[in-house]
Amino acid sequence: MGCALRNDGLVGRGTVHGNSLTMKSPALEIFPNAEAASERLATELVARVRANPELVLGLPTGSTPIQLYRKCVQAAQAGLDWSRVTTFNLDEYWPIAPSHEQSFTAFMHRELWQPAGLDPTRTFIPSGEVEPEAIALHCAAYETAIRQAGGIDVQFLGIGVNGHLGFNEPGADFAGRTDLVDLAEGTRQRAAASFAPVPVPRRGITMGIGTILEAREIVMMAFGADKAEAVQAAVQGEVGVHCPATALREHAQVKWWVDEAAAALL
Ligand code: GLP
Repeated sequence: MGCALRNDGLVGRGTVHGNSLTMKSPALEIFPNAEAASERLATELVARVRANPELVLGLPTGSTPIQLYRKCVQAAQAGLDWSRVTTFNLDEYWPIAPSHEQSFTAFMHRELWQPAGLDPTRTFIPSGEVEPEAIALHCAAYETAIRQAGGIDVQFLGIGVNGHLGFNEPGADFAGRTDLVDLAEGTRQRAAASFAPVPVPRRGITMGIGTILEAREIVMMAFGADKAEAVQAAVQGEVGVHCPATALREHAQVKWWVDEAAAALL
């Protein structure tokens, strides 16, 4: 289900909304498919790592970044050194063992960290097995680690079909910090098949929207027809907590990388 579209702004021009606020349309580039977008993104990211081997990245999981990560691995196989890059993942289910194959930790090991040769002391992800009484401290430490790394240079994001960012579901505070949150029922249902026969965890630890908005630059990727409603709402709809991705309109350096199917309603 997409977030409710409450306004009719047009991409590519400044838009006056019903509440008389002038909104700037975000930078958005449309590619024929996810492969083409991921190819270009990977080329740009590889150039960034060459220019600054100590780049600090924010990273998502899910199906959206898989082709980008495969191309990053190819660059590593061709000689690019990723060992001084620092990465902070957006979110993790809670509770979940890192060894569970559906954990985002296992996903990152499999898809990027191990095959691209990242330094395990420079890859950060919220823990799915922190004890309940230690969660607040764990989340605060995650925020501290981001600050100690100098902040996130480029935050890559996917978007949920309900407009979520990480596990920040509709209703999440735009100023929120890393925290334990409840997953939307739809989010759990979409993951149900891959978790079966065990149920999808009901909660997750996610960077807050406030944390995400502190990145110096944000790259949002959205591919496939099932993202079209969320993309339209995020890019053209009224900014509000009903659609977490509309928070990105409050950031000066955001670019949307979408395929034709995800851009179909714009
Ligand atoms: C998941 C994750 C998000 C991800 C989004 C889209 O639930 N918590 O971080 O960006 O939903 O996932 P996908 O790329 O598989 O569509």
